[in-house]
Amino acid sequence: MSLCVAGFRMRSLRKTVLLAILVSVVLVFALLHSWPTRAYSTVDVWQRLGPPGERLLEEKLPEPDHQLSSIPFHVRDGVASLLARNGCVCEGESGGVNLPFAQLLFPRVSAHPLHTAFDASELEEMKKRRAKEYKSFQSRSKTPADALIIAEANSPLQYPTQGLEVRPMKTILIPGLALHDVPRDHYSLNITATLGVLNVAAEVEEVKINGDGEMHMTLSSTLLPNLNRQLQFVTYTNTLFHPSTADTVQFESEGHQAVFSIKIRHGVTPKLYNTGSKEEYNVSALVTIATKTFLRYEKLQNLIDSIRRYYPTITIVIADDSENPKAISGPYIEHYIMPFGKGWFAGRNLAVSQVTTKYVLWVDDDFIFTANTRLEKLVDVLEKTTLDLVGGAVREATGYTATYRQTISIELGEEDGDCLHMRRGFHHVIEGFPNCVVTDGVINFFLARTDKVQQVGFDPRLARVAHLEFFIDGLGSLHVGSCDDVIINHATKIKLPWTSQSESDKTYAKFRYPPASSDATRTKNGLLFFKNRFQCLTHN
Ligand SMILES: *[C@@H]1O[C@H](CO)[C@@H](O)[C@H](O)[C@H]1NC(C)=O
Ligand SMILES: *[C@@H]1O[C@H](CO)[C@@H](O)[C@H](O)[C@H]1NC(C)=O
Repeated sequence: MSLCVAGFRMRSLRKTVLLAILVSVVLVFALLHSWPTRAYSTVDVWQRLGPPGERLLEEKLPEPDHQLSSIPFHVRDGVASLLARNGCVCEGESGGVNLPFAQLLFPRVSAHPLHTAFDASELEEMKKRRAKEYKSFQSRSKTPADALIIAEANSPLQYPTQGLEVRPMKTILIPGLALHDVPRDHYSLNITATLGVLNVAAEVEEVKINGDGEMHMTLSSTLLPNLNRQLQFVTYTNTLFHPSTADTVQFESEGHQAVFSIKIRHGVTPKLYNTGSKEEYNVSALVTIATKTFLRYEKLQNLIDSIRRYYPTITIVIADDSENPKAISGPYIEHYIMPFGKGWFAGRNLAVSQVTTKYVLWVDDDFIFTANTRLEKLVDVLEKTTLDLVGGAVREATGYTATYRQTISIELGEEDGDCLHMRRGFHHVIEGFPNCVVTDGVINFFLARTDKVQQVGFDPRLARVAHLEFFIDGLGSLHVGSCDDVIINHATKIKLPWTSQSESDKTYAKFRYPPASSDATRTKNGLLFFKNRFQCLTHN
């Protein structure tokens, strides 16, 4: 009986094993069948300046020449002081008159350290974290094409020094390669790439080719003209997909070395806007007006009414983070309701993200269009120049008109961060537009290329007092102008003692204009310190 059971068990076990083997075999076949036949190469996309780039750079730096170091020289202070020092400082101007409106009448430069946004206890930790993030930002934003390459004296090698570019995984001819050498019996050349392979598009007689289709190719011949003819057909094919970087190619013959880089990148995909067929500018088809409102519905209605007087069909996008939002309706109006108190820059971001026209006009909700608010003039400036953003002028109820032009410059610092300097003023007048100048920051009334503003974005962490922060973030990517002949009116802001404020005005003021020492200022300074990596700022 027990034997029989054991036999039965054996059989069932064998059956199970057989079944398991069968299933495994089927699985392996299925796996093999579905397994991609293409071999995937591994590409190093780690954040670092690859060793080849760095090594080449170090090897190429000329040896200090002892003969030269003994020749005396005199420093020109005027020029030498223009060179970036290792470290920067923010210095304010001291003294001056202490009168009411002194800052308006005799603007002085004041300096502000930014680390005060953090308590002494957390500052060291903040600095460490900022340094770590900065290092990784730097490695993301650099490619071997940014490395310094020096062409050595008396090289018989001819090669392209810049402008070589290949699309990812595509092929180009490398133009300009040649060898000019003293007569020899035998000429030999090596070409070495690291992110792609070399080949020849045609073969020339009497030239021996080794390593074609590989990263290291050797060409040799006894005839120099034939070798040079062969060099005209050398191709480079990118084989490792890692766009927005560069391949550093070595080119060498007996005793001589040259290095050049080939940029590997996609072309820039344009974002074009259809602007209609009319000769003159159709502002409604080209421009969307964007604004952000908070509690001030009467002011907003006045703005809308004034816009409609001049531009009846222009689209108006409104971002609204009021606690009890009211309906705003009418043709060509888009009203976006946000969570209560989301803030100033969050609202700007939302409004601008919904714009589908080529240009966006930013206005505050307490502005009023007048006959001087000729948007066509601003459109004309952006259509005819390379500017991305152009500001107008704002007229206060007192008659005072402001353009609030600011220049922004950044002085390089060391581990403590860079120094940010802002000054009233501009760089130069724009030719053909005598009322317009080039500058770095402008007032809250500007027309801009929609895609560029969307690219820079408004940091939603800036909830209350913020404006120039957008231009600081955009420095280097936004080309900014300002014209003083396109004017918008500002509904009165100057509070006279005998006028009473409405309830909504009072709540508004509480949110919008917090005292200087408040959390809003700390947030602002903290962002300049950490996000933009500044140590201090000066302005007038
Ligand atoms: C070319 O590279 C090979 C190694 O692959 C080396 O032996 C040879 O000396 C190099 N030739 C020149 C001209 O640099
Ligand atoms: C201007 O553009 C708007 C919106 O695209 C369109 O409705 C209007 O007909 C255009 N006006 C003219 C005069 O072409």
